[in-house]
This record gives sequence, C-alpha cells and structure tokens, in this order.
Amino acid sequence: MTTAPSAPTPDLLDRLRELLGPRGVLTEPADVAPYVSDWTGVFVGTAAAVLRPADTAQVAAAVTACAAAGVAVVPQGGNTGLAGGSVPDASGQQVVLVLDRMRRVREVDPVADTITVEAGVVLATVQQEAAAAGRLFPLSLGSEGSCTVGGTVSTNAGGTAVLRYGMMRDLVLGLEVVLPDGRVWDGLRPLRKDNTGYDLKQLFIGAEGTLGIVTAAVLRMLPDTPRRATALLALPSVDAAVALLPVLREHGGGELTAWELLSRQALELVTTHLPGARDPFEGPHPWYGLVELAGSADSVGERLEEALAAAVEQDLVADAVLAGSPAQRAALWALREGVSEVQKSEGPSLKHDVTLPIATLAGFVAQVGPELEQVLPGVRLVTYGHVGDGNLHYNLSGPVDDPLALRAAAPALTRTVYDAVAALGGSISAEHGLGALKRDAAAGYKSEVEVDLMHALKAALDPRGLLNPGKVLAPRPGGGPATTATTSSRGPSAS
Ligand code: FAD
Ligand code: MLT
Ligand code: ZN
Repeated sequence: MTTAPSAPTPDLLDRLRELLGPRGVLTEPADVAPYVSDWTGVFVGTAAAVLRPADTAQVAAAVTACAAAGVAVVPQGGNTGLAGGSVPDASGQQVVLVLDRMRRVREVDPVADTITVEAGVVLATVQQEAAAAGRLFPLSLGSEGSCTVGGTVSTNAGGTAVLRYGMMRDLVLGLEVVLPDGRVWDGLRPLRKDNTGYDLKQLFIGAEGTLGIVTAAVLRMLPDTPRRATALLALPSVDAAVALLPVLREHGGGELTAWELLSRQALELVTTHLPGARDPFEGPHPWYGLVELAGSADSVGERLEEALAAAVEQDLVADAVLAGSPAQRAALWALREGVSEVQKSEGPSLKHDVTLPIATLAGFVAQVGPELEQVLPGVRLVTYGHVGDGNLHYNLSGPVDDPLALRAAAPALTRTVYDAVAALGGSISAEHGLGALKRDAAAGYKSEVEVDLMHALKAALDPRGLLNPGKVLAPRPGGGPATTATTSSRGPSAS
C-alpha cells in the first residue's frame, strides 16, 4: 500500500548533514530561495531543504535516507528548464537535490571518442572539453552556459543542431543513475553496441527526474567542424522556409547543421530589447531564416552560396546577409537565440513548444493566428524555432495595451494551439518536456495505452511516488501518490 510523502523531520535533516557535510544541506530561506523558482518565474515552490551531494555515493545515501523517511526528492540541474519540472511544489515537504557540486569531467577518451562527465557539468564545459581534444560535442542551446548534463539528459534536450546530430538521446552512450530506492544503476558503459535486452538508459533519458537521478553520463564526441558558413535570410513566408529545406539539403549535404526560423515580431523584440542587436536588412520582411553549414573545409562557404543562389532562383528568398567573421556570425545567432530572454521584457509570455509534420507548418501558422485573435484580440505571436525539425516555439505575449490580459486568456489560448497541433498529428512538447506545465494537457492528447504504459513504468521504478512527484504524469482518479502530488504552479502558465 502507498502512503503520501512526508515532511523531513529534524532527525532526518541531522542525518542528511552527517551524510553530506555542512555544505551539503541548505535550510536557511535565503540559501534555499534560488532553488525553488524556475527560469520563467511561473513555478515557485517551497522546499524543506536543498541537498547538494558531492558524489554519487552521497546522492545514493541521501536518496536512501529520504526514501526510508518517505520524503519526496526533486532533482535539479541548472534550473533552466521551461516546463516547471525542476522546482518543488508548494507543500514545503519536498527536498530539492541539486547536482551543482558534481562537476567533474571523469574522462576524455580520444580513441573511443567519448567524454564521461558528472551530471552537474555545464553543457558549455562539455563543448569546451571536446574542443580541447580536437573534437565536437554538438548539442547547442541558448542556455548552454547554465544547463547541465543531468538536465539535458533528463529533458532529452534539442536545440539548434538537431537537424544534423539529433537530440541528447542520440549523443548518450551510457548513464549512471541513482534509483528512487537509493540503489545505484551503473550503466556507464561507452559501448556503441550492446544488445543485451532492454536498453535501460533510454528509460531515464527524457524522464524529467521522475524515474531516477542521473549522476554521470558517457557522451559521444564527433569530428570537429571548425569552418562555419552562416547566413540570415529574409523570407516571404513559412511556406518558403519549408520549401527551402530540401534546397539547403541538396547543396549543403551532410554539412547542413541548422535551419532556424524567426518571425518579424520576434526579430523586432530582439532589436528593441537586446543591447547591440540590429536588423541587418534595409526594410522589414515577414519571416527570417538562419542557416548554418559546418565542416572542416572552407568549401562550406561556397556550398552555402550555391544554395542561396538556387533559393533566389526559385523565389524562396527575398534577401540574405552572410556572416563574414566570427563576430558577425555571433551577431546573427544572437538575433535568434535572444528571443526567449527578451520576450520577458514585454510582460508575461505563454510558451508553446510544438512540433508538427513539416508539411503542415505553414497551414498551422495561417490557421491558428486568426483563431487566437478571436480568443484574445491583440494577442502577439512571437513565433520562432527549429524549422528544420518541424519545431515551432509558438509563444504568445499579451496585447500591447494590456499585456496582463494574457494570464486570464492563457487556458483558452493554449487549448486552441494544442487542439490544432493534435488535429495535424503533431506533439505539444517537442523538446522542453512536460514537467508540471504540460502534464495535464499531455494526458488529454495521448492515447489511453500510452498513458497506461507511462504509469506502469513509474509504478515499477518508483512505486511510492517519491521522485519528482506531480511532474510528467497527471493524477489519476484513485491513483497513489506516485501521480497525485500537487504542482507548484501559482496558476495559469503565462509567466
Ligand atoms: P533543470 O531545469 O534543472 O531540470 C530540468 C528537468 O530535468 C527537471 O524535471 C529536473 O527534475 C530534471 N533533472 C535535472 N537534473 C537531473 C538529474 N541529474 N537527474 C534526473 N533529473 C534531473 N531546451 C531545448 O531542448 N532546446 C533549446 O533550444 C532550449 N533553449 C533554451 C534557451 C533558454 C534561454 C532557456 C532558459 C532554456 C532553453 N531550453 C532549451 C530549456 C532548458 O535549457 C533545457 O530543458 C535543459 O535541458 C535543462 O537543463 P537544466 O540542467 O537546466 O535542468
Ligand atoms: C529556443 O529554442 O530558443 C528555446 O527552446 C525556446 C524558448 O525559450 O521558448
Ligand atoms: Zn528551442
């Protein structure tokens, strides 16, 4: 029989201090504060304590002690997640377990082409370590200076190079995981071939901390691509962006690395709020595409120019700016990657991280904008994303004269977006995960069989529901605490 999670007793906190040392347990409100609210500011919880283990043995000991006491644990990495998965609920009973003292690079192996790191290592550090070895770690996100390996594994992060290299799942060879009962699963193998039954690491990739705590990972390194050719294209339509993909593939071949989209409204937000950002074109255009080819030879530049010539010939591009230096490349990327941050300057925002069959993208945009205008007149569409993957960040801001109106309209706006996505055979979470933000919606759009399988996995690995309760899985009537803990949201999902 299951029982509801408990609050930690003073005895448990003393025991945790013995296990983790004085730096390993935070309970003062000022120390705890940075760990209980998320990047968007939508999810704000309360924690009985923040645990900061220094190694895998300490993670295991802390989880064992919490499990014995029936205390729920919320794993946290860099706290850059966009679905409210990394913060505790409002009960004040949960503890946050953060991996920020586990930042060792255990091994860089140039023969196996692997890098083995602890879960708290920041993504940018992995990229730098690979570069120092003359190799590439290709996962690339706007948050790469803060997000961690544990977080990117647990959300199966995507980013701007998925088109070429796939998501985090495609870059993980092995994992070390502390299970909800405190046992350690050592799957830290660098093997490229291992058909010995179920591929257990896949369970934890994308599980958002609900099935285990990732403590280390073996990651693939790839050939470095020091030559980059980057251009910002002015586009007449989303249709043109989609039609350009095969043109870019034909000319870019295996070197095509990024194909990103940005609406005029999104670009204007960046040029208004990001210091130093400027629109490189003379006049406005409805859409922009950022393309990058990367390789080891200077010919990437020629191939990009060939692709652009073909695109102009087919009337798919109105204008183009090519980066002539690393600084110009960075300036173009800042226009695309700056959107998340600057949208905060325009009042609350409502994020929709959706993916669609790529052929339906233009129809989706044409249909849903007017529908949203009906729901909230003046709503602003801040659309951008990874068009090469069919992944739009279909984010919204409130009307200019009443930005806070977004909050009350958020449920109806989100339903409009998600219903259209579902009707077109898409997914309501391309890369950010479900967390607390989308768990209820996801349950409504998944089949009963899928939902049953997910609950069965949770019950098998975490029967008492002590690991990140209230995330990913929506409560079921009569369900145990594995799925019934309240979320930490303070209400509508507009931040
Ligand atoms: P956190 O936010 O701390 O946690 C995320 C989830 O993983 C939570 O459910 C948490 O419980 C769990 N978790 C964290 N660490 C562990 C662990 N060691 N073991 C088990 N569970 C764990 N995401 C993309 O996919 N693509 C993008 O392009 C992208 N761009 C972004 C740009 C900006 C500006 C920002 C702020 C975010 C962006 N994100 C993007 C979202 C975010 O950075 C990713 O989801 C990232 O993977 C989160 O990593 P983190 O270490 O911050 O994890
Ligand atoms: C991005 O690609 O910039 C982020 O994933 C989108 C977001 O912040 O919504
Ligand atoms: Zn993204």
